[in-house]
Amino acid sequence: MSEAVQEHHEYDVLIIGAGGAGLRAAIEAKQRGLKVGIITKSLLGKAHTVMAEGGMAAAMGNVYPEDNWKVHFRDTMRGGKYLNNYRMAELHAKEAPDRVYELEQWGALFDRTKDGKILQRDFGGHRYARLAHVGDRTGLELIRTLQQKVVSMGTDVFMECKVLKLLHDAEGRIAGCVGYWRATGEFVTFQAKTVILATGGAGKSWKFTSNSWEGTGDGHAMALWAGARLIDMEAVQFHPTGMVWPLSVRGLLVTEGVRGDGGVLRNSLGERFMFNYVADMFRAETADSEEEADKWYDDHSAGRRPPELLPRDEVARAINTEVKAGRGSPHGGVFLDIATRRTPEFIRRRLPSMYHQFMELAGVDITREAMEIGPTCHYIMGGVQVDADSQETIVPGLFAAGEVGGGMHGANRLGGNSLSDLIVFGRRAGIGAAEYIEAGSVATAFDQSEVDAAIADALAPFTRAEGENPYSVHHDLQEMMQADVGIIRNAGELEEARVKLLAFTERVKHISVKGGRAYNPGWNLATDLPAMITVSTCVTIGATLRKESRGGHTREDFPNPDPELGKINFAQSTDGGNWDSPVTVVESPILVMPAELKALLEEAK
Ligand code: FUM
Repeated sequence: MSEAVQEHHEYDVLIIGAGGAGLRAAIEAKQRGLKVGIITKSLLGKAHTVMAEGGMAAAMGNVYPEDNWKVHFRDTMRGGKYLNNYRMAELHAKEAPDRVYELEQWGALFDRTKDGKILQRDFGGHRYARLAHVGDRTGLELIRTLQQKVVSMGTDVFMECKVLKLLHDAEGRIAGCVGYWRATGEFVTFQAKTVILATGGAGKSWKFTSNSWEGTGDGHAMALWAGARLIDMEAVQFHPTGMVWPLSVRGLLVTEGVRGDGGVLRNSLGERFMFNYVADMFRAETADSEEEADKWYDDHSAGRRPPELLPRDEVARAINTEVKAGRGSPHGGVFLDIATRRTPEFIRRRLPSMYHQFMELAGVDITREAMEIGPTCHYIMGGVQVDADSQETIVPGLFAAGEVGGGMHGANRLGGNSLSDLIVFGRRAGIGAAEYIEAGSVATAFDQSEVDAAIADALAPFTRAEGENPYSVHHDLQEMMQADVGIIRNAGELEEARVKLLAFTERVKHISVKGGRAYNPGWNLATDLPAMITVSTCVTIGATLRKESRGGHTREDFPNPDPELGKINFAQSTDGGNWDSPVTVVESPILVMPAELKALLEEAK
């Protein structure tokens, strides 16, 4: 241990991130007799997982017996505009029901059908009511359940520990990580045979986001710096419904469960505008009149679904267009109304958090009035390229699961597929790590020079007497990403963004931080910024190269999908290992789907 490092720990499996994927991975590795440590820069129980409010998608067929994994697979691929790693979508659809039942056995209290089965609700892009849920607090229940299980198994959890960099051994295998305690600023090293990244997303690079302070893309960036590849980084999800007012909470999520349970969207003229935005691929199954759509809410999934239940990319773009055309609500969104269709009792029972959120924060009673909502940056489909079955990256000993992983959702994620992704692939990452260790060729020591370099970088802002404040850099980055790499993109703005990102890189190198290392949020932000710049750069590069519109990535200069680009992922990597090393991009062909799975997609057309 070097002088600069005050503390050291050793594990078989080290998990970075304590959301759903990290906790589920920990349970699996622990059950296999391994020594497991979990690091979170936040607190146990507080993760973006809780922002998946409306439910977890799993084809259990409790409400519609005709549902099955094949339909779920098909919906997921179609929702992702076929850019998905088909094998991940297949495993996810097949395994999600077992993972939900497992949660139930571990104590999760799901809402129930009249005959006592787990109740399932409708969400966008899912053919059948498929989301197991606990009111509109499903992510919270998932975290609570997994957390209890992890703690009861005696797993070590390190809270408020910010990881700076992954470490390698002399053979290039992953060997651990270095970080610091947010409370004291003291440095800590972890030696590990395997590391599982479960760090979630990167929404804090945008101005309006449902992500809280943790969503700074640390895992994406650290994986890239460590030699892994990032794919589909241009695919960023703007959830159609975030709060737009008051400004202090702009971006806060309004669950898709509102639309699933009967909420409709209207513009300032009172028009139910979604009927004007039904893409050809969804036309056959989407109601084409208010009358038909309204009837569906009564006799349900058998008929054609309301256009409000199109996938998120379609709905977010439509809202954006309405606002730009001057048909928005007073605060720059549109109206979401559930009060007209549902009773106050129904709304308070099914959507208790939404009721309180609007009442407390906006003074709006959603049982009587419409909500004002607009798109908010919610999720990144792009992430670390992994093997579908094991979640292993191309760096030996490094695994990634959950939002930080790429491939599962293609160009657009269906709502509800995130919670099930976390538990399906969290478990698989735990197994993958255990099998890697069993195979025997693991790191036993890390390269001390990597530790020293990471610490020197982290401390550099204290050594600059004059320099920019990290908050102003972050503020400007968010403004820029929202304006230039937002929901609708074009070549000119993307080029501007690339130039500005080079300038942001220089600004980060000249940040100055005052005070000590203990309890210093300015310094904490300064250490988050390299990851945010790295992720923003990868998103911008991917968006520049993808000269088409597909899923969450919309180019006004290339408004249609390009069948040739539909065959490739853009995979980004870097040789330097430093946060400002240049990124190189290769075209990585998407996996070729076996004929029997392809046939399932054909059936859907
Ligand atoms: O709208 C929601 O409740 C979010 C769910 C999700 O992102 O999967």
